[in-house]
Amino acid sequence: FPVEDIRNFSIIAHVDHGKSTLADRLLELTGTIDKTKNNKQVLDKLQVERERGITVKAQTASLFYNFEGKRYLLNLIDTPGHVDFSYEVSRSLSACQGVLLVVDANEGIQAQTVANFFLAFEAQLSVIPVINKIDLKNADPKRVEKQIEKVFDIPGDECIKISAKLGTNVESVLQAVIERIPPPKVYRKNPLRALVFDSTFDQYRGVIANIALFDGVVSKGDKIVSAHTKKTYEVNEVGILNPNEQSTHKLYAGQVGFLIAGMKDVTEAQIGDTLHLHNHPVEPLPGFKSAKPMVFAGVYPVDQSEYNTLKSAIGKLTLNDSSVTVHRDSSLALGAGWRLGFLGLLHMEVFNQRLEQEYNASVILTTPTVPYKAVLSSAKLIKARRAVQKNMIFIDQNRVMLKYLFPLNEIVVDFYDSLKSLSSGYASFDYEDAGYQAAELVKMDILLNGNFVEELVTIVHKEKAYSVGKNICERLKDSLPRQLFEIAIQAVIGSKVIARETVKAYRKNVLAKCYGGDITRKMKLLKRQTEGKKKLRKIGNIEVPKDAFIKVLKTQ
Ligand code: GTP
Repeated sequence: FPVEDIRNFSIIAHVDHGKSTLADRLLELTGTIDKTKNNKQVLDKLQVERERGITVKAQTASLFYNFEGKRYLLNLIDTPGHVDFSYEVSRSLSACQGVLLVVDANEGIQAQTVANFFLAFEAQLSVIPVINKIDLKNADPKRVEKQIEKVFDIPGDECIKISAKLGTNVESVLQAVIERIPPPKVYRKNPLRALVFDSTFDQYRGVIANIALFDGVVSKGDKIVSAHTKKTYEVNEVGILNPNEQSTHKLYAGQVGFLIAGMKDVTEAQIGDTLHLHNHPVEPLPGFKSAKPMVFAGVYPVDQSEYNTLKSAIGKLTLNDSSVTVHRDSSLALGAGWRLGFLGLLHMEVFNQRLEQEYNASVILTTPTVPYKAVLSSAKLIKARRAVQKNMIFIDQNRVMLKYLFPLNEIVVDFYDSLKSLSSGYASFDYEDAGYQAAELVKMDILLNGNFVEELVTIVHKEKAYSVGKNICERLKDSLPRQLFEIAIQAVIGSKVIARETVKAYRKNVLAKCYGGDITRKMKLLKRQTEGKKKLRKIGNIEVPKDAFIKVLKTQ
């Protein structure tokens, strides 16, 4: 394929505005998939994506399209729309020259429409505005066109109005891709320079890297080198994603596709890495900004004997989702595990679900926290900061864009849900990091009969300390079994007790149910009790079953 007949593009949109539906139609129109009723979100391959009806991972597909007597190769990179996954969007964009910006004809411009537009704008890509769902009763494409003019400074007549669901006018989207997006600027005569923009791990074939070729050619049998690890590999297979892998023996500059080269270890195909030919080193392409985790959670195997299995599952999954940060961690109650950093709560849930579904791992996830920087001075005396309004822009008579500065801790847990329910679903939300701010935070300890419980230390805002402390004490009370003596559960700040619960004394008589004198039955029960005790941990003289902390720490 001559470079001038190639277009690399992506679809960006606010969640649910119809990216995946439009992608399905484009795949059908180009004959990539058959036109059947069952083509729903073909590119959403992961089980979690289908169950939740959302796109998590960016997927790539190569489409062939005949236009004015010429055959074009259109590489479509589908991207996720949820706020937690904007990292995937910016990665996908680095392999594109243009984007389709899909906006719902009824809802109009929303928070991620704006955020995604600016990602494309900063990457200097051509933006084709597509107003979707014009078939809806309440559709108002004219109003959306005006919004696009006002907010993005794109002339209204550049908007393409379609119904992805019914297929109306979708053909003109393909034509606009050819006419308005430039072909990639690449040099096939130069030695190979390929960007790894995604990679997955296949149990049988090892690492499958998704690559975008900026220079040169790569063929089956070539010796290639990773600029990152300096390791050399022989290329076993290259090809395009159609949308499933299809070997082509060669890939040329301007194309995107997949490459398999016997990379066995998950750390060998780093996303953002540059591949070049052996003996032909090149200037590596600029990699990717590493994503900044916003929510942290402890992840532990349910059973310590599964530590190594879980370790390799996390390794493989983070290869596929490099925005997750991993640090080893351990806890008295939960044993050896990790502290993982996620871009948001949904991201955390999806990661957990993928661990379970794709790697059959069962994990304990502890309550997410956000990072704090402690300054040991009287600056904590500074008054607690609430949200501070920064900016207000009217998109049109009905919609306003507000910018606020929030403590991250206030928005990660349930802010999004509250906003949605307060506004009856009309408001949408996006965020970026504004750096650390001073706040009145306190360290809260949990004591069991005066003994410090290391794994339950929390950092909380002074105003929230009472309710958080009370909640932990109550949950702990419910999960601690009664013992021979009374147990005082206390939440303390410094030396001040802010919450307390008591577990009354009780002797668990395992023989109570044994009326009659069946001695073997008695022995069996007593043995079971000792076995049970092995699963206990001692804090002072208090026996704490392993799952008591799990119940307190686990996200509910
Ligand atoms: P994420 O993958 O979660 O980011 O969503 P998305 O933007 O890919 O949206 P998706 O294609 O899943 O569509 C969301 C919903 O809108 C689905 O229920 C679609 O059937 C519906 N939808 C998409 N296009 C149209 C359209 O042209 N008209 C109507 N009426 N509904 C549409």
